[in-house]
Amino acid sequence: MRVIETLFLSSTLVSAATAAGLTGNWLADKSNGDGTLRRTYFHLKEEDLRITGTIRTTQFFYSITDSSGGPEGFTLQAVLPHGDRRVIFEGKLEGERLRINEVRSSGPGPAMVAHRVPEDEGALPAYIAPPGLHPVPDNGLARTPPMGWNSWNKFATRIDDPTVRQVASAIARNGMRDAGYIYINIDDTWEGERDGRGYIQPNRKFPDMKELADYVHSKGLKLGIYSSPGPNTCEGYEGSYGHEEQDARTYAAWGIDYLKYDWCGARNLYHDDQMQAVYQKMGDALLASGRSIVFSLCQYGLAEVWKWGPQVGGNLWRTTGDIRDSWVSISRIGFDQDRLAAYAGPGHWNDPDMLEIGNGHMSDTEYRTHMSLWSMLAAPLIAGNDVRDLPDSIFRILTNREVIAIDQDPAGHQARRVWQSGDQEVWSRELANGDIAVAIFNRGDETATVTFRWADAGLSKPPVRARDLWSYSDLKLSEPTYSGAVPSHGVVMLRVH
Ligand code: GLA
Repeated sequence: MRVIETLFLSSTLVSAATAAGLTGNWLADKSNGDGTLRRTYFHLKEEDLRITGTIRTTQFFYSITDSSGGPEGFTLQAVLPHGDRRVIFEGKLEGERLRINEVRSSGPGPAMVAHRVPEDEGALPAYIAPPGLHPVPDNGLARTPPMGWNSWNKFATRIDDPTVRQVASAIARNGMRDAGYIYINIDDTWEGERDGRGYIQPNRKFPDMKELADYVHSKGLKLGIYSSPGPNTCEGYEGSYGHEEQDARTYAAWGIDYLKYDWCGARNLYHDDQMQAVYQKMGDALLASGRSIVFSLCQYGLAEVWKWGPQVGGNLWRTTGDIRDSWVSISRIGFDQDRLAAYAGPGHWNDPDMLEIGNGHMSDTEYRTHMSLWSMLAAPLIAGNDVRDLPDSIFRILTNREVIAIDQDPAGHQARRVWQSGDQEVWSRELANGDIAVAIFNRGDETATVTFRWADAGLSKPPVRARDLWSYSDLKLSEPTYSGAVPSHGVVMLRVH
């Protein structure tokens, strides 16, 4: 072994010493601070005043399409295979090192220093053909939309074991658990390297996943985790590619109850029309693991996932790109879900992404609209804020039991838009007990009086009684039309008997 290593090393040194100019495989790495490295590979070929090759960074594998300059100063332009993302790097050779940085619209990114590595390092792993299609049996979970918390929206890469414990303990204590928030989901950046037998290890931020799961379970909660069908996650951490069954068994052994499976690096190996088969692989693996694990598909609503999500064992599937803590983001996503209503139902839900309620960039009125709209949509309610420090107003929005009851209604009918006039919209959904939930939205910049006929909200005769779910009051009604003031970006949400 030692002899082989020595031979390998010396051949690397020879090729490095003889390589001309920029030609070669260059690695720039940066510590993630958790025992893992963020690696960027520049695999370059310098020839006839042109630089060609590939750039691999986090989940992306770019091809260089354009270049100028040479070792003393160069610029590279690279694109993803589908051409949907473009990057520009500039750099120069300094002795045995490459100094290089990305050029962003905001200016030059941080400088990276790359050194030569063996030719095949950082190459994409060999292609594994996806399996033939078959229906994955229903796992019997998520009869109502999953509720819980996820680390990404607030903590992004800064999530670790102590924070997850504090969040779990806060949710168990502050009333959120009792309102239904059960799943505590760790998003990207928990992953470490694989061991010699291919078993995934958590990184330094998560010293013992099984112990963490035991702790979360002891609070009457469940633990979720995150991975990708690709070799890398979005943040460039280890994905499940080629290890699907092994990972599912590991999750089961740790006591994991929920998996968010994010397309990310899979885009480098597969086309969108292969997604179903690729997701099916993990759907099968989770079922075979012997543990009940909710399967959350995250591929940003590509390839009409709502048409095949249930067939791969998916309990929920993202219908859009990433949400942001802004009115533009939540209204653009939320009000665009009407066309998908037919695909939601017990066990399989449209997921317009996690909640931003309480993250600080919207007003309470807007957060109430976010909560109301997601509940009307029978969307998963996955809080994404720092619940360890919860202002009372945010707590009351997240735990309004009567609004949650709409979301969790056992019939699982996703609301439809039934009336619209300019910035004013009415959505309604039928509930299991024959009531109708009606949400009256004002997307405009001024308070507005909204007037619509009950017949347009799907009621054959005008209602007599209704409950106003945000003013916690009972209303007596008698007119064939409803008319009421709705604040800018606000909502009136009614349960009509
Ligand atoms: C994607 C997902 C997000 C989050 C990040 C993590 O962008 O859509 O919800 O999981 O990856 O890297």
